[in-house]
Amino acid sequence: MIIWIFYVIVCKKNYLHMKTKLSESLSDKIKVLKNEKKAIILAHYYQIPEIQDLADYVGDSLGLAQNALATKADIIVFAGVHFMAETAKILNPSKKVLIPDLNAGCSLADSCPPEKFRNFKNRHSDHIVISYINCSAKIKTMSDVICTSSNAMKVVNSFSHDQKIIFAPDKNLGAYINTMTGRQMILWNGSCEVHDIIKIESVLKLKSENPDAKLIAHPECKAIILELADYVGSTTGLLNYTMKSNANKFIVATETGIIHQMMKENPNKEFIVVPTDETCSCNDCPYMKMNTMEKLYNCLYNEKPELKLSKSVIEKAKKPILRMLKLSE
Ligand code: 13P
Ligand code: SF4
Repeated sequence: MIIWIFYVIVCKKNYLHMKTKLSESLSDKIKVLKNEKKAIILAHYYQIPEIQDLADYVGDSLGLAQNALATKADIIVFAGVHFMAETAKILNPSKKVLIPDLNAGCSLADSCPPEKFRNFKNRHSDHIVISYINCSAKIKTMSDVICTSSNAMKVVNSFSHDQKIIFAPDKNLGAYINTMTGRQMILWNGSCEVHDIIKIESVLKLKSENPDAKLIAHPECKAIILELADYVGSTTGLLNYTMKSNANKFIVATETGIIHQMMKENPNKEFIVVPTDETCSCNDCPYMKMNTMEKLYNCLYNEKPELKLSKSVIEKAKKPILRMLKLSE
């Protein structure tokens, strides 16, 4: 029995060693290919650590959009989800935009189908539309201005208090802004399956077990969690907070990917991810995690899958995104 356990441990160790070596060499191959093809890799914080470490830029939705607009590279490889790659294509249409897995969607974007939204908008024709960037390009064409979690407050406050507003598609972010600004924006009933599932019971349990920890949360979480949080912000906002704060322990209510950067920036601090239930402590976005090193290599090598959009969608969707970028300067 002891020999058998020893054998299993040795095999597992060898396997993990092989896996690390394999991803190291893949990482080198991707870097070579990237330089040959004059490509840039943009990655969201929710990507696996290997992809984050390889990327030319890692950031939140706003930072990624700004970088997609500014890049001089011939090819943009977008290690994120579909709506992010769409945004890159809209902002920089002459570039070839590649995405490792075209099926990497977003439950929040999917919760706002364009035809249903068009009818909703028509029923409130005296309202302007502010859309969270986590929506399809078609929804962006129906929007007056886009926002991200890092500039939502600024974008909303750029309108007078009596302006009637539809906020789509995230009801949690919309409700949070309504609370913070005293507005009554009409909210589209959409949510992110990763953040919306985070339970208050889990948060309360972790808070009582770690009274010295700060609770930090992404605004896609439910109001009951945001009310308890010491800090609410975008992924970049959360990361910056952990760097500036004097606290040494953080309860993190968002997707797990950001922990990689938090640990890199704060090697001596402790991060506790809020478990979604008793058996799982992994708030992994299934769409973000569809991207792998192998898919990243293949997409750069084959220059596909390529993200394509019609000229008319690009033209219409660009206006509200540029308006947001102007407001974020
Ligand atoms: P940010 O990184 O802009 O905060 O967005 C989080 C998110 O849910 C991305 O899908
Ligand atoms: Fe969409 Fe949520 Fe995943 Fe972000 S974390 S990509 S909002 S499903």
